[in-house]
Amino acid sequence: MIIAVVQTKGGVGKTTLTVNLAVERVIRAKRDVLLVDADEQGTASDFSALRAEKLGQTGYSAIQLSGNAVRNQVQALKSKFDDIFIDTGGRDTQALRAALTVADIALVPFQPRSFDVWTLDKVASLIGEAKSFNQSLRAFALLNCADSSGPDNIAAAVSLSEHPEIAFLNSPLGRRKAFPNANSIGLSVLEASPADKKACSELTRLADRLAKLS
Ligand SMILES: Nc1ncnc2c1ncn2[C@@H]1O[C@H](COP(=O)(O)OP(=O)(O)O)[C@@H](O)[C@H]1O
Ligand SMILES: [Mg+2]
Repeated sequence: MIIAVVQTKGGVGKTTLTVNLAVERVIRAKRDVLLVDADEQGTASDFSALRAEKLGQTGYSAIQLSGNAVRNQVQALKSKFDDIFIDTGGRDTQALRAALTVADIALVPFQPRSFDVWTLDKVASLIGEAKSFNQSLRAFALLNCADSSGPDNIAAAVSLSEHPEIAFLNSPLGRRKAFPNANSIGLSVLEASPADKKACSELTRLADRLAKLS
């Protein structure tokens, strides 16, 4: 399955989500994973470098791509991997559009209250455009840095109902220090010690739901 994590806004958790999901597939599902860093800022590549340094190996293959190479290279490599995760940058780029033309799933993280109409309109229109080239593309939005309680999930679902291109995946990740703490040392929350049980269960719940979509 090819999963592109997309949002035209920065700082919403795309890289956090991508690297944690990629590692989850490697360690829990024993899948052969390719992590594509399609963001010129290279945060996912930095994570992989840190991880290789800490563990001796990442456990997955990692490449950095830009522009249309995201589409061409992923298409050329897809038969070699069980799963491909593509991290994209926080704006409308050729690489982001290319990722959407080749992905099976677009995962759109949003933060509570930043669930603003403009961002959603932009992402929905990019996904709508991509669907005319890529009929198998399915798009799902989910909350990242969600509050542990409150009406955020309902508000998000309501905002999304105006955009039939994007379905709401009710599998939020809470705002938990475990995510930056683990990522800053090249680990997923599943590997960090001591384990944050809530972060781990949110991540595995999301991963299991995504796996069922294939
Ligand atoms: N669920 C979360 N809980 C706490 N901090 C988070 C969470 N998700 C992301 N962050 C932090 O928010 C910042 C932005 O996340 P990042 O994944 O880099 O976003 P993006 O790739 O969309 O720019 C990072 O410092 C990251 O560690
Ligand atoms: Mg990023």
